[in-house]
Amino acid sequence: MDTRIKTVLARQILDSRGNPTIEVECSLQCGVTARAAVPSGASTGSHEAVELRDGDKQHFSGKGVLKAVANVNGPIAAEVSGMNAIHQSAIDEAMIRLDGTPNKAKFGANAILAVSLAVARAAAMASDLPLFHYLGGANATRLPVPMMNILNGGIHANWQGADFQEYMIVPYGANDVRQAVEWGAEVYHALKSVLKAEGHRVGVGDEGGFAPEVGSNEEPLEYIMRAITDVGLNPGKDVGVALDPASTEFFKDGKYLLRTENRELTSEEMVKYHAVLADRYPYVVLEDGLAEDDWNGWKILNEHLGATIELVGDDIFVTNVERIARGIRENIANGVLIKLNQIGTLSETMAAVRMARLAEWGAMVSHRSGETVDSFIADMTVALDTGHLKTGAPARGERVEKYNQLMRIEEQLGGTATFAGKKAFSRPVRPF
Ligand code: PGA
Ligand code: ZN
Repeated sequence: MDTRIKTVLARQILDSRGNPTIEVECSLQCGVTARAAVPSGASTGSHEAVELRDGDKQHFSGKGVLKAVANVNGPIAAEVSGMNAIHQSAIDEAMIRLDGTPNKAKFGANAILAVSLAVARAAAMASDLPLFHYLGGANATRLPVPMMNILNGGIHANWQGADFQEYMIVPYGANDVRQAVEWGAEVYHALKSVLKAEGHRVGVGDEGGFAPEVGSNEEPLEYIMRAITDVGLNPGKDVGVALDPASTEFFKDGKYLLRTENRELTSEEMVKYHAVLADRYPYVVLEDGLAEDDWNGWKILNEHLGATIELVGDDIFVTNVERIARGIRENIANGVLIKLNQIGTLSETMAAVRMARLAEWGAMVSHRSGETVDSFIADMTVALDTGHLKTGAPARGERVEKYNQLMRIEEQLGGTATFAGKKAFSRPVRPF
């Protein structure tokens, strides 16, 4: 098989929010063609790699990505054509070198990532291997716990609901992914009934979870507990919960502004707030419990909750090994969120996961709030054996495609498949 790259071709498509994003087709000399698309965040960390947008107000309110498309079809295509698609890190490094900026500002991380992923997928196809197997080798047999975001707040719900952005259910007591997905979908539907019974509207937010107007950030957890028991499951035994408040979004002038509760909290008070919730509910993961630049606050958070809960940094680490290394050195968390487009190449993403695992931290792979139906992250999660993947509600095409892909992989693996279950996290699941 001649796996040298023949062409890369980019185009502008729409993401799940109706905003432009980029997809790339990579064709190899052997005749294989593969496609990959990149997602886009809304509650983005300020230290993320640059997502290049056109800024031309005449088109898509300035959100077009035609410059990124031109960067792929021009200089990037010229650089990577003729390179061997199985040499992933060499290709990623070549693009990083050619871009020449520390944050991929010249070509755009969106342009570079689309190429990086399309190359990997083409190489897998040419090697006649499923993507998870190509990326992870013979040991890639463990399926992750799906972390399903069934109630949306914050910017993903237009600031009309909870301040906290994501309320996830964690079906860690299931026997396999198939059962975990079934439980997740059942709880999702039960939550809809609970919300209706409480007189709430059941419209959904950007990630497919319901987006009710609640009076506190604790209220959704009560509804979720009820939904879990309503379907005959046991909170804390079968299904746990995880939270991503996305605290950077409501951190202003050194204070956390909880709009729904009319309260302003210091970092220490936020830590106490989370500690109270962690006592009352079967929490396993707390992501972005504090803001991206509140390193001192994170240290306090880790001192109080780090022994018992996986504390995952998203905006603070942005899948960047330099920032993760500082986090490990300063002992401010015990987990990292992994988002491909925060850093911009597959190789750098894999390096971030390796660093986290070496430090015995958790690594939770994540979608973005603006998604496409590309399910690359499902395969990548199995390949890197991170044990947990968050990719929204068990509803909406762009979200369920990832969960569906996990079920396909489980089927493909047959008897060799295992399920991460309660061992998925950097801290053991507490008795509840
Ligand atoms: P985003 O949200 O994709 O809008 O950044 C996801 C997250 O904060 O984890
Ligand atoms: Zn987050």
